[in-house]
Amino acid sequence: MHTATATHTPAQPSASARRKHTGLFRCIAIFFLALIVIVGVTVIVIWLVIRPKRLIYTIDNGSIHNFNLTNNHLNSTFNFVIRADNPNGRASIYYDSIEVSVAYDNQNVAFNTLEPFHQPTRNVTRLETRLEAQNAALSESVSRDLKLEKASGEVELDVHVKAKIRFKVGMWKSRDRTLRILCSPVLVHFSSSKSFQRTYCDIDL
Ligand SMILES: *[C@@H]1O[C@H](CO)[C@@H](O)[C@H](O)[C@H]1NC(C)=O
Ligand SMILES: *[C@@H]1O[C@H](CO)[C@@H](O)[C@H](O)[C@H]1NC(C)=O
Ligand SMILES: *[C@@H]1O[C@H](CO)[C@@H](O)[C@H](O)[C@H]1NC(C)=O
Ligand SMILES: *[C@@H]1O[C@H](CO)[C@@H](O)[C@H](O)[C@H]1NC(C)=O
Repeated sequence: MHTATATHTPAQPSASARRKHTGLFRCIAIFFLALIVIVGVTVIVIWLVIRPKRLIYTIDNGSIHNFNLTNNHLNSTFNFVIRADNPNGRASIYYDSIEVSVAYDNQNVAFNTLEPFHQPTRNVTRLETRLEAQNAALSESVSRDLKLEKASGEVELDVHVKAKIRFKVGMWKSRDRTLRILCSPVLVHFSSSKSFQRTYCDIDL
């Protein structure tokens, strides 16, 4: 019979080694805690100094010209006035690139870019853009819906803006950030005698 009961105990670290271990662990924990507190306080101080305010974008005017929808293909000119409001007292904005597109029923029909510019603090800039749909192919159902809306005298469009921007505060400039603006629905009348209702846009930064 095999009666040997030599239970194999795993090597236990000595008490002093264990103490050293916990001491080191405590040091690391305190270091990271201190780091988090310092970073947190810095962020709060910067936040309080800059007091960033949300950028506000609206579509202030929109019109359609030369509309021609034939055989599910669209030719048309869209004019929009995009109002960009930077309410920040300390942060100015570099718009390094601006792409504007107009969509009907999730189908992009026209696209244009705007000139880069620098927007000062507490500034409102009106950006005028003209987008040309050139023989834009639409699906049959989308084409039918657009015809119906045209017959009613007004059409609901989506205006998307994608911009690369940087903030400037004093001497500091932020890295490139992608700003997405969605204005939906933008109700545009075919008759220019009807006044345009300002549309507020959602932003994603
Ligand atoms: C909007 O645009 C139309 C057509 O370009 C123009 O006739 C009208 O005066 C503009 N309205 C405003 C409030 O700017
Ligand atoms: C629309 O375009 C088609 C094809 O280019 C043309 O035959 C037609 O005359 C145009 N209609 C209007 C109202 O311009
Ligand atoms: C759109 O314009 C192009 C030329 O610019 C023309 O060839 C085409 O037939 C037009 N399409 C419609 C639907 O009017
Ligand atoms: C906003 O800034 C632009 C330059 O980017 C300037 O032309 C315009 O006059 C400024 N508007 C106001 C209200 O300060």
